[in-house]
Amino acid sequence: MNYFLEIYGKLPRAGPGSDELTRRAFESIPSLPDTSRILDVGCGPGKQTVELLRNCSGSVVGLDLLPEMIDRTIAEAELAGVSDRLETVVQDMKEMTFPESSFDVIWSEGAIYNLGFERGLNALKKFVKPGGYVAVSEAVWLKPNPPTGAIEFWQDYPEVDTIEAKLDVVKRTGYEPLSYFVFPASAWTDSYYDPMERRIAQCEEAWSSNADAEAVLFEARKEISLFRKYSDYFSYAFFIMRK
Ligand SMILES: C[S@@+](CC[C@H](N)C(=O)[O-])C[C@H]1O[C@@H](n2cnc3c(N)ncnc32)[C@H](O)[C@@H]1O
Repeated sequence: MNYFLEIYGKLPRAGPGSDELTRRAFESIPSLPDTSRILDVGCGPGKQTVELLRNCSGSVVGLDLLPEMIDRTIAEAELAGVSDRLETVVQDMKEMTFPESSFDVIWSEGAIYNLGFERGLNALKKFVKPGGYVAVSEAVWLKPNPPTGAIEFWQDYPEVDTIEAKLDVVKRTGYEPLSYFVFPASAWTDSYYDPMERRIAQCEEAWSSNADAEAVLFEARKEISLFRKYSDYFSYAFFIMRK
């Protein structure tokens, strides 16, 4: 059994976010053609993919490395009655094969870190039409001098930085920043850490006396506890930009 996926792959979202935040970011994009094509990179279980479909009249391509995630995105879209405008692709975001300038918008919530922020923005540029848009959520420090526990939370992602530093990267990679906003703590808890806590409780009973399972549960509990203690120091922010 993949214990990691049993916890992280069974949550409503695979990272912080909410329909409201997806909508807010989408609304900051000036008007799009009726036939617009949007690429959602690292779509996960597809909550934001479906919210994009609800809010645009064109099509959305959901891309993820894991077929399980693509299956969940398709199921979400079918449930919402928007699957006729959804395309999906199981592909590594590091090796995307779309033709140049394929998309009016490229979206990525909680997933560009897999490429790194700067490398990711550079990589996405090729696939956005000239004058098209990129909207990504990315980890940011909210206060200077974060304590050790906040740094430990992000130990696997060295690129977490201030909003100003991220905006500099946006400009350096050749985009025009349009807007940005910070996620509230509820975006981490409502659809992510609260359901994760409930999932941990279910699995604890079923997985007792298994060392591999215990290690996954330990790390998940530690992540939640560090978040609850240090969430004043960091969050995700949405960055919306034009190519
Ligand atoms: C933190 S989750 C965010 C998912 C979704 N956007 C959300 O906010 O719920 C990151 C997603 O990126 C996917 N992913 C990780 N590495 C990837 C890669 N190299 N190429 C494509 N997708 C990848 C994971 O499978 C996962 O679904």
